[in-house]
Amino acid sequence: MQLIDGKAINLQMQAEILQQVEEMVKNGQKRPNLAVIQVGDDGASTTYVNSKIKTCHAVGFESTDVRFPADITEAELLAKIAEINADPNVDGLIVQLPLPKHISENKVIEAIDYRKDVDGFHPINTGRMAMSLPAFLPATPAGIMELLARYNIETEGKECVVLGRSNIVGTPISLLMSRKSNPGNATVTICHSRSKNLKEICRRADILIVAIGKPEFVTADMIKPGAVVIDVGIHRLPSTETQSGFKLKGDVKFDEVAPLCSYITPVPGGVGPMTIISLLKNTLLAGQHKIYE
Ligand code: GUN
Repeated sequence: MQLIDGKAINLQMQAEILQQVEEMVKNGQKRPNLAVIQVGDDGASTTYVNSKIKTCHAVGFESTDVRFPADITEAELLAKIAEINADPNVDGLIVQLPLPKHISENKVIEAIDYRKDVDGFHPINTGRMAMSLPAFLPATPAGIMELLARYNIETEGKECVVLGRSNIVGTPISLLMSRKSNPGNATVTICHSRSKNLKEICRRADILIVAIGKPEFVTADMIKPGAVVIDVGIHRLPSTETQSGFKLKGDVKFDEVAPLCSYITPVPGGVGPMTIISLLKNTLLAGQHKIYE
């Protein structure tokens, strides 16, 4: 069994991005600038946003940090998005999800200029991705593809089972894994809460991608020996083993599943660091106008 080290790939990609940014600056271009909007003070969101901004600076980007209280109106948020859309100094714009209930996430996503939508959530980017046209790919699925590529994991003709059908992970990763590309060219099955025979379907998987949002849901009896397991889940569970009183766990019961796998991503240190670095890669591409003019 080999661990897939997302943290190490993240650091490698940070160095690659920094080098490209310094090249841009040497050529008289401006540094890429990522705007991040957070609404409210959800603890997990604050951790993610702080980490995104910190990594921006590590790769030589500028950042625009916008925080609003949870009771901001939808109209006020949309006005800020319109302002940033029109700001030529900003290359990428993300609004951290989830948003408070009184604000429509779909309206917000559609309000972002698709040319600055480095989260890849806008319907234009989703549609272009589905058509294999140049597009900003959503960060977590793009990060998983990067891990498969950098570990030279064969995907062509393999049985890939995706657990979860969210807009952010399950649906886009199933598209990317099935399309004509490398990594890709896999035979993909999507499972969800209404699927029957879940265990049997998972046991068919050469590559099992788990984004179901349930701690330690996947157990050893769901694994085909030699499978590649990608765990997208991240849960902060109470624990007596740590000083903090918490332990991070994935959607996979790591201790019993890992010995059966050829490759597996740990939690933390697997997919998580890849989500942030893929967002920054998209921002670099935006700054370089490599996807859109
Ligand atoms: N919330 C959870 N994942 C994400 C993500 O990739 N982007 C944004 N904007 N919010 C999220």
